[in-house]
Amino acid sequence: MISTLKSGKETCVEVDIKGMFDGIACKYDLLNHLLSFGIDRYWRRRASKIVKSYNPKELLDIATGTADLAIETARVLKNSQITGVDISSSMLKIGRQKVDNLNLSHKIKLLLACAEALPFSDNSIDAVTIGFGIRNFKNISAGLAECHRILKKGGVLCVLEFSEPQHALIKNSYNFYFSKIIPRVGGRISQNNFAYNYLRDSVAEFPSGLDFVKILMQAGFKDAQFEPLSFGIATVYTALKK
Ligand SMILES: C[S@@+](CC[C@H](N)C(=O)[O-])C[C@H]1O[C@@H](n2cnc3c(N)ncnc32)[C@H](O)[C@@H]1O
Repeated sequence: MISTLKSGKETCVEVDIKGMFDGIACKYDLLNHLLSFGIDRYWRRRASKIVKSYNPKELLDIATGTADLAIETARVLKNSQITGVDISSSMLKIGRQKVDNLNLSHKIKLLLACAEALPFSDNSIDAVTIGFGIRNFKNISAGLAECHRILKKGGVLCVLEFSEPQHALIKNSYNFYFSKIIPRVGGRISQNNFAYNYLRDSVAEFPSGLDFVKILMQAGFKDAQFEPLSFGIATVYTALKK
């Protein structure tokens, strides 16, 4: 699972992201809801409502996984078509079952594709969403460049990602929970210790707040903003294609 060096930040091992998510796919939803006490649903709902305010018709949900964000967005946006893409076929398989069970297959289609090489034409998409996915991209700049390429002028990019809370009291509890509880409970239930240690490390490493806003602006987006959710445990970012 671990091989060489990850780009972006200085020293970190490269992780087989696809293999990792294929390995935990069947426990992913359970652990998401359990470890976040169900708050992850609120985070996705908030991101979907923000996207709705732009009234997009054609949406792309990158790193869609088991399609929770795509499903939430389809519920909120009645007249939209959503394509979800992901590199993990096991995550997509569970996503497809959920989409079928909810009778949403006319609104959501799921494809195997990589964020860094999206199979969509230039200027073709109204809104791109990425829920808890961008932190895992092998090459974040290449992924953002692809988002920028496929979005129509004025189209919105909405990124939902974990972040570290700033308030001292919350930060201490958060650090304890993220470094002690999540790896143990996640590792035990998924039978994959690596994945839930990786979650802790990748969140700690990911640039959040204004740092990520700067990255969005450098990628050519305008009006980049962020909204911390639940004391900053997650943050939703939006930016527009110039
Ligand atoms: C933490 S899950 C998030 C799933 C879903 N968006 C959600 O809100 O629960 C991260 C997903 O990103 C996918 N992923 C990671 N790197 C990717 C890439 N370069 N291109 C497409 N998907 C990627 C993984 O396979 C995994 O399904």
